[in-house]
Amino acid sequence: MSLRYLISKRNALRFLRLATGSFLFDWKEVAAMFGIKHDVYENPLHRPLEKPVTAIILGAGNRGNVYGGYSILHPDELQIVGVAEPNALRNERFSSMHNIEESKRFTSWEKVFEVDKFADAVIISTPDNLHTEPCLRALELGYDILLEKPIAPTEEECRAILAKAHETNNIVGVCHVLRYAPYFRQIKELLNANAIGKVISVQHMEPIEHIHMSHSYVRGNWHNSKKTAPIILAKSCHDTDIIRWLIDQQTEQIQCFGNLSWFNSKNAPEGSTHRCTDGCKIEHECPYSALQIYHRDKKRLYVFDLPEDKDEWEDAILQQLKTTDYGRCVYRMDNDQPDHLTINMRFKQNITAAFSMEAFTSYEGRRTRIMGSMGDLVGDMETFAMTNFQTGKKTMWSLKTDSHGGGDHRLMKDWVQAVGHQDPSMLSSGLDVSVESHLMAFAAERSRLNNTIEPVTLMKKELAMV
Ligand SMILES: NC(=O)c1ccc[n+]([C@@H]2O[C@H](COP(=O)([O-])OP(=O)(O)OC[C@H]3O[C@@H](n4cnc5c(N)ncnc54)[C@H](O)[C@@H]3O)[C@@H](O)[C@H]2O)c1
Repeated sequence: MSLRYLISKRNALRFLRLATGSFLFDWKEVAAMFGIKHDVYENPLHRPLEKPVTAIILGAGNRGNVYGGYSILHPDELQIVGVAEPNALRNERFSSMHNIEESKRFTSWEKVFEVDKFADAVIISTPDNLHTEPCLRALELGYDILLEKPIAPTEEECRAILAKAHETNNIVGVCHVLRYAPYFRQIKELLNANAIGKVISVQHMEPIEHIHMSHSYVRGNWHNSKKTAPIILAKSCHDTDIIRWLIDQQTEQIQCFGNLSWFNSKNAPEGSTHRCTDGCKIEHECPYSALQIYHRDKKRLYVFDLPEDKDEWEDAILQQLKTTDYGRCVYRMDNDQPDHLTINMRFKQNITAAFSMEAFTSYEGRRTRIMGSMGDLVGDMETFAMTNFQTGKKTMWSLKTDSHGGGDHRLMKDWVQAVGHQDPSMLSSGLDVSVESHLMAFAAERSRLNNTIEPVTLMKKELAMV
């Protein structure tokens, strides 16, 4: 994974001019027209830090390395001073990268809390089922926290974390990274400035992309909802969160349909075998062939902990395909996550939203359509077009990024600022608002399983916070 922070202020502002009928319109003029003074690439609240924030990473896997990567690029803002990671190779690689002293390298999260507090904060990037206990313990010991989503796999645990955070008053940032992506920030600024009038409804889609689906939710870490979290939480809490944030009204009712249609034994092709390496007769024509994805195309290899020497990769990958879930047939896994689902939502003021999560797409990148009384917005995570009904003018905004629309490291910057200045208002995705969008996901899952329309209920105390 590239550690390069791809968006610089210099390359970020790429204004496109687009002809629609006889109209040409410039983005800067639009921003000025709606009184948007600062651009979305700078948080005006940021101030210089007196000293770098210090943090301990719990779970040095994929996400732990993304957040750790921020400190490599910005050592004056963040220093990683401890790690808990049971995988010896990951622990060693991460510790060397961050020069973590021997006594601060731990094999599991519990051990971190057996010694005196030695950092400002912890970053919790352990698997979904290992968020609650470390988070509660860290709060008790006075650490500020960056917590990977989902906050926790059950509603009760989310509420317990919220209650504890209110009690201790520590900063808890939740990794709803899309809120920090310039694409969504720009849309949010426009909605706040009334650029399309009153928001009437939203249509939002998460195209997972078929190989990504097979990798993460059929073969990978999140294939079994009971061992991790339902996909509506594990994948789409980002979407319930972004919809809630853009609409800026409380959700009242939710209804969800969806199921696992394709990745099951009924659809196993004739001649297929338990593993792609077992002499499967259709391996060469199967879009989900593990040999094709991992061995021949060398994609998504970050899960394999491969040796430094690339000459050893061929054998190492083959070996893993013969022994881990990543080599198993997608039609013969013990997976249970739906591969398509739709959610209908009603918010206060009768604003409606429709969301769909789709595995079977050739593309990724969330699709957004926002319908307002005076205009609309249509976007695909890189580009959006805003049309004004009064003038007919259309404005295009465009930015190419990676890593969650450029949100990963922007979240880090805001979180580091929040902890460094002890000012939670610097964070867009604090715990209170994040719990609400999780409750939306839990309600959607109840609706899907019970065929009901579910209310989204916040407790009185929680209600005051959102
Ligand atoms: N914000 C996002 O967009 C986003 C994207 C992907 C994943 N996630 C979430 O981030 C979290 C981590 O996901 P990941 O993709 O990095 O997974 P991962 O498997 O790559 O990393 C998790 C790490 O935690 C380690 N671990 C396991 N038990 C531990 C213990 N007892 N103590 C300390 N570490 C332990 C594992 O060995 C592993 O290295 C998950 O909750 C996941 O849902 C969030």
